[in-house]
Amino acid sequence: MAQQPESPPWWRDAAVYQVYPRSFADGDGDGVGDLAGIRARLPHLVELGVDAVWFNPWYPSPQKDGGYDISDYRAVDPALGTLDEAEKLIAEAAGLGLHTIVDIVPNHVSDRHPWFRAALAAPPGSPERERFHFRDGRGEHGELPPNNWRSEFGGRPWTRTADGQWYLHLFAAEQPDLNWDHPEVRAEHEAVLRFWFDRGAAGVRIDSAGLLVKDPALPDLAPDGPHPYVDRDELHQVYRSWRAVADSYHPPRALIGEVWVPDAERFARYLRPDELHTAFNFDFLARPWDAAQLRESIDSTLAAHAPVGAPATWVLANHDVTRTATRYGRADTRFDFAAKAFGIPTDPALGRRRARAAALLTLALPGSVYLYQGEELGLPEVEDLPLDRLRDPMHHRSGGTDPGRDGCRVPLPWSGTTPPYGFTGPGAATGEPWLPQPADWAALTVEAQTGDPDSVLELYRTALRLRRTRITGALRWRPAPEGVLAFDRGPGFTCLVNLSPRPVPIDIPGEHLLSSDALTDRHLPSDAALWLLRGARREPGERGRTVAAPMTKR
Ligand code: GLC
Repeated sequence: MAQQPESPPWWRDAAVYQVYPRSFADGDGDGVGDLAGIRARLPHLVELGVDAVWFNPWYPSPQKDGGYDISDYRAVDPALGTLDEAEKLIAEAAGLGLHTIVDIVPNHVSDRHPWFRAALAAPPGSPERERFHFRDGRGEHGELPPNNWRSEFGGRPWTRTADGQWYLHLFAAEQPDLNWDHPEVRAEHEAVLRFWFDRGAAGVRIDSAGLLVKDPALPDLAPDGPHPYVDRDELHQVYRSWRAVADSYHPPRALIGEVWVPDAERFARYLRPDELHTAFNFDFLARPWDAAQLRESIDSTLAAHAPVGAPATWVLANHDVTRTATRYGRADTRFDFAAKAFGIPTDPALGRRRARAAALLTLALPGSVYLYQGEELGLPEVEDLPLDRLRDPMHHRSGGTDPGRDGCRVPLPWSGTTPPYGFTGPGAATGEPWLPQPADWAALTVEAQTGDPDSVLELYRTALRLRRTRITGALRWRPAPEGVLAFDRGPGFTCLVNLSPRPVPIDIPGEHLLSSDALTDRHLPSDAALWLLRGARREPGERGRTVAAPMTKR
């Protein structure tokens, strides 16, 4: 009998949904999302048509950085649930065909982690302190920080302890950096990987993956030479060991890196066959809504990935960046942490149109795609949260000038017409959501959008189904007018995106599968995208969204 060809591993072309657990669904009514809420809402993800779920950290944490300050890597925060529930969630998701990706934070721990408490309790020079970066200060009395680095969250990345030594934290003071030259640090993280792989996790998302290894001399940042902590060559050995751990499982587990390394060739080194499987493509996310810019990003991404044989990833949003519906309605549509500010004007209708078109562009590209919760509802960034409700250290450490990242972390609206819009489960009258939801989100709930063919949710549902059945093969650009992106995938599929200010004629014969906006007189409007099957019968109803293809689930 002929052997079935092996299907490619799931992570090569998966649509991965990102759940921010505290803001997804609240099962126990305390206003904070939790694992019970997620378990009850898994059908939403099945209905949406994704293949995998990445959960932001759910571990015990003092919440000084939205859970990225972990005090125990082998447990679940009591506010979110229990380890037993996490195991059930992973198993239930798997039963529904959803792979689980858990978030691993290797660069730093919480200052409440037992290792750091022990380090603080031990004297300078003790073995307990060697797991971190403790140093004497500069200046006559050691009153100056040991070097000139800057925290990723603003301010200096050094905090002085009671006995006069300083410790390094690239993020908040409550997130001391681990010393990755220490064998116990390496061994501990491999054990943590195994802990979650043993519980059924299909992969891990590796937080701040490019920052772990520091130059042991911790020298000042200088204009030339290797960076003292970003993208150090020694890091690759760490990920080779992790790959061996991942490959020791059946099926092998996937390693997905959060690697903010702008140089495409340096980025691709992390994706060599014995290192990470994939890494987030932040270049694409940061680009403005501009055809030439996006095309250049797509080309350079594909060119950098090809030699290492790794699939590209496509990301438009996550829990750290401004929501697309808001960003694309601004005069400057790039994403840049340094440019974040209060009060940037946006045109919501324009932003929404472009976010819809961007979704069809992204879902048509070869590789895996990441979809941040709420993007499928077209949620805007919430830009008017009361200042006293903001939690993000990026806001607080900026002295209040940076709005921070809370605006994209507001709890999801599920149903009903007033807050909490079904976020908080029934029987929980007191559960005010931990971040307030806007009063005008009634039309954005899952309930309100379900069945409405013009809704963002139905656009995503249809697109994700078509992506599974209709879109395969390499990308080939087509000639297109200025401001228009046009490419084919496989023998029959074409994606057109009009980023120019005027409608463009659709001169490719074929069946219109889906468009992000109504078509007018065989023209694709400005800021709209169209998927079509070339050569197939043209649908009569081409003025609207037409889904002519039978939708079969994989
Ligand atoms: C990553 C996370 C971000 C967090 C930071 C520190 O960038 O995505 O949310 O604040 O790492 O762990």
